[in-house]
Amino acid sequence: MFSKTSLLLAMLGLGLVMGTLPKVKLPTTPKIHRLEQQTELLSVQNPVATQMCFGFYGPILNNVSTTYEINYSVCANNYEMASQNIYCRWNSTLVGLSHDGDSGCNTFVDCATIVDYVEAFECFARVGAQESKTMYSISANATQIAATIQSDLLLLESRRDVCVNDAERDFVEDTASTYEHLNACLNGAALPNEPVSTERPSTTEIPDTEGTTGFRIYWN
Ligand SMILES: *[C@@H]1O[C@H](CO)[C@@H](O)[C@H](O)[C@H]1NC(C)=O
Ligand SMILES: *[C@@H]1O[C@H](CO)[C@@H](O)[C@H](O)[C@H]1NC(C)=O
Ligand SMILES: *[C@@H]1O[C@H](CO)[C@@H](O)[C@H](O)[C@H]1NC(C)=O
Ligand SMILES: *[C@@H]1O[C@H](CO)[C@@H](O)[C@H](O)[C@H]1NC(C)=O
Repeated sequence: MFSKTSLLLAMLGLGLVMGTLPKVKLPTTPKIHRLEQQTELLSVQNPVATQMCFGFYGPILNNVSTTYEINYSVCANNYEMASQNIYCRWNSTLVGLSHDGDSGCNTFVDCATIVDYVEAFECFARVGAQESKTMYSISANATQIAATIQSDLLLLESRRDVCVNDAERDFVEDTASTYEHLNACLNGAALPNEPVSTERPSTTEIPDTEGTTGFRIYWN
């Protein structure tokens, strides 16, 4: 029988399936990789400068990483909350459909075991299509609902992807530029004058020849 319990279980399962992004990983690019290798070489060659340069630029690199992690989790949390909203908005409809199904027949039993939200509604649509007029009405509604949920979720996903991409771009640009300054420091360039937070080192500026249009993320 298509019980309310199994339906809610299916929906809870959905809550677990939706809204989860992989655990945050720091993005990297070939350019950052190259700069890191350069840093390693330079710090071996200039042990005296190393401590001073890392003392100054290390916290900045940490700050850039932490900022990225925070921004990333904002993107993930916003997506999570919004998809939970969709889930709540359609909950009563789904429970209502299950009641209609119960009064008709037991053919919806298989739908109850489906964990994915969209698939569950599509299951209603498929099974309902073979049944009475009531079932046909459920089928038509369920088809409509499945399509609506699907497009709502797609919209949320693309918003999340734009959000994550912005955070990644910030991270990659800030990391690369900090490594450039760190490497310049290891090469003997002076540290920027205090106060640090408002001033960017300018004497050792290295032009970003790769620009931003060819920006590409490579995951570790
Ligand atoms: C990074 O540094 C800025 C400026 O010093 C500061 O306002 C911000 O809170 C720092 N962020 C983190 C995550 O430490
Ligand atoms: C979904 O609806 C059912 C029945 O109205 C209710 O018992 C349940 O708490 C709801 N679940 C959520 C997550 O809102
Ligand atoms: C289908 O949706 C219409 C309006 O959206 C509603 O009046 C009708 O009761 C629904 N049918 C079923 C079987 O839930
Ligand atoms: C990341 O967060 C910082 C503040 O923590 C903010 O200044 C910056 O605009 C955010 N970047 C993006 C891409 O959201």
